[in-house]
Amino acid sequence: MQKMGKRFIDDLSLPDVPEEFQKTLEDFSEMYMLYDCAIREVNTKLENLNQELKFKKDRNPIQYINHRLKSPQSILKKLQMNHLSMDYKTIWNEITDIAGVRVICSYIDDIYAIAEMLIKQDDVALLKRKDYIKNPKESGYRSLHLIIETPVFLSDKKQLVKVEVQIRTIAMDFWASLEHQLRYKTNVDVPASIREQLRNSADSIYRTDQEMQNIYQEIRRMEEKE
Ligand code: GTP
Ligand code: MG
Repeated sequence: MQKMGKRFIDDLSLPDVPEEFQKTLEDFSEMYMLYDCAIREVNTKLENLNQELKFKKDRNPIQYINHRLKSPQSILKKLQMNHLSMDYKTIWNEITDIAGVRVICSYIDDIYAIAEMLIKQDDVALLKRKDYIKNPKESGYRSLHLIIETPVFLSDKKQLVKVEVQIRTIAMDFWASLEHQLRYKTNVDVPASIREQLRNSADSIYRTDQEMQNIYQEIRRMEEKE
C-alpha cells in the first residue's frame, strides 16, 4: 500500500505543483488505500448482483465493470477549477469521484434495476443521483450517475468512503468513449457544427438502445406464452 502511495507522489514531482498540495500528498497513500478498498467493495456488490440474476433469470444485466482511481493531477485540476483549498479534509469531503466505478449494462431498464438494487443495500447510502438518461447533457451524453457512500472495514475501525458509480448501456458507453477521446485528444476547439453532429449521433444511438429494449421485451413475452 505504501508503495502505491509513493508511486502517486513520484508522479507529482513536477515544478508547478503548489506547495500546499505537495504537503497534502503526504497523506495520499492512506487515502488511496481507502478508495481502492471501496472500489473493491462496490465491485463485489455488483458482481454478486449479476451472479444472482444470472442464476435466477438466466441472463446477465451487467456486461462488464470498469474502475479507476482519480490521479493526484486530476484532483489538483479539479480543486483549482472549483477554487477549493488543497487540504486533505477538503479533498475527502468535496471531491466525490476519486473512486470511480463504471457499470456497462445490456439494456436501459437494467441500468435502473441495478441502481435500485445497489442503493437498497443497507450499507450503501445514496448521496447524489444524476439521471443524464432522462436529462441528457448538452453534449448528448447519457448515463445514470450515483454518488454513494459505503463502509470499508479496517483492522480497528469502519470508514465510510464515497464512490462515483456511472451506469450506462454498451451503446451509451461506445458514444461516451469516442466523444471523450475526440474532446481530450485533439488540440482544436470543437466547432458548433461538429458538436451538433455528436449530439445527433448520441440521440440516434439512444433510439437504437430503445429499439433493442423493445425487441428484448417482445421476445421475453413470447417466451412467457410458451
Ligand atoms: P466532473 O468535474 O467532470 O467530475 O463533473 P461533475 O462533478 O459536475 O459531474 P458530472 O455529473 O458532470 O459527471 C462527471 C463525469 O461524467 C465525467 O468525469 C465523465 O466521466 C462523465 N461525463 C460527463 N459529461 C460528459 C460528456 O459530455 N461526455 C463524456 N464522454 N463524458 C461525460
Ligand atoms: Mg469526474
